[in-house]
Amino acid sequence: MAKSFSYLHLLMFFIIVLLSLVMPCYGADPSPLQDYCIADLSSDIYLNGYPCKNPDNVTADDFFYEGFINDTRGFDADGSKASGAHVDYFPAVNTLGVSMIQIQLLKGGVAAPHTHPRATEMLLLMKGKVIAGFITTDNILFYKTMTPKMLVVIPQALVHFVYNVGEGMALLYAGYNSQQPATQYMAHALFNSTPTVPDAVLSRSFRVNDSIVELIKSSLSVPLFPEIMSNTSSGSVRLK
Ligand SMILES: *[C@@H]1O[C@H](CO)[C@@H](O)[C@H](O)[C@H]1NC(C)=O
Ligand SMILES: *[C@@H]1O[C@H](CO)[C@@H](O)[C@H](O)[C@H]1NC(C)=O
Ligand SMILES: *[C@@H]1O[C@H](CO)[C@@H](O)[C@H](O)[C@H]1NC(C)=O
Ligand SMILES: *[C@@H]1O[C@H](CO)[C@@H](O)[C@H](O)[C@H]1NC(C)=O
Repeated sequence: MAKSFSYLHLLMFFIIVLLSLVMPCYGADPSPLQDYCIADLSSDIYLNGYPCKNPDNVTADDFFYEGFINDTRGFDADGSKASGAHVDYFPAVNTLGVSMIQIQLLKGGVAAPHTHPRATEMLLLMKGKVIAGFITTDNILFYKTMTPKMLVVIPQALVHFVYNVGEGMALLYAGYNSQQPATQYMAHALFNSTPTVPDAVLSRSFRVNDSIVELIKSSLSVPLFPEIMSNTSSGSVRLK
């Protein structure tokens, strides 16, 4: 009996090895099948990623991104502004499994706790002073105060944040191993969804009463930096 049990384990081991050879499970986007595939963002074909623009029409301009140079958009309600060179703004990264963003944080501004379900992140501080950290699935927080040229790696899908504790603006760049890492903010996912999560679910989960849940729901519509918000015509700017 013990012997057949160990055969079963051996068989399971080989099946797992075989499956891992047949279906490699990388944490990042799949490899491209051609040199490049500039995304045709206007296509109405739906597939995993975007179809390619006709290669005959590709020029050098397709491969260069200038969106970081003059980012004149307003700051969001948290005093943060991210300019994204991911596939929706920089179609050249389609199928290449990489993307990058430029982040600016006002003094006291925060990139509120969020996750990127599809990518690991490398975050480089260029200017200013921030606290950055991430929380593991065991609820361990790893964080540090960052000064210019410090780099932190945020493992795929883990909750993380950046908070400007310096005297001026902070400037950061983040690279991702996905053409579209996707961003989900915890506070907004739970307290500002459409339609909203029922109060009872949140009051039970957070072990507070419904009035506190209502307070958080309503406070998310109040900007952290009202003076900035009132100047921006577009209102809250968030990366999708
Ligand atoms: C290439 O670009 C030209 C000019 O923008 C356009 O007229 C033409 O339809 C494009 N060709 C293809 C195959 O997309
Ligand atoms: C950025 O702004 C400067 C000054 O307004 C301008 O000279 C330059 O052409 C702009 N660059 C881009 C890439 O938009
Ligand atoms: C909800 O909880 C807060 C904090 O414990 C308390 O001050 C408040 O009175 C409670 N409200 C209701 C309606 O129970
Ligand atoms: C927004 O407007 C206020 C008052 O008009 C001004 O003090 C502040 O500097 C402006 N902020 C930005 C980012 O333009």
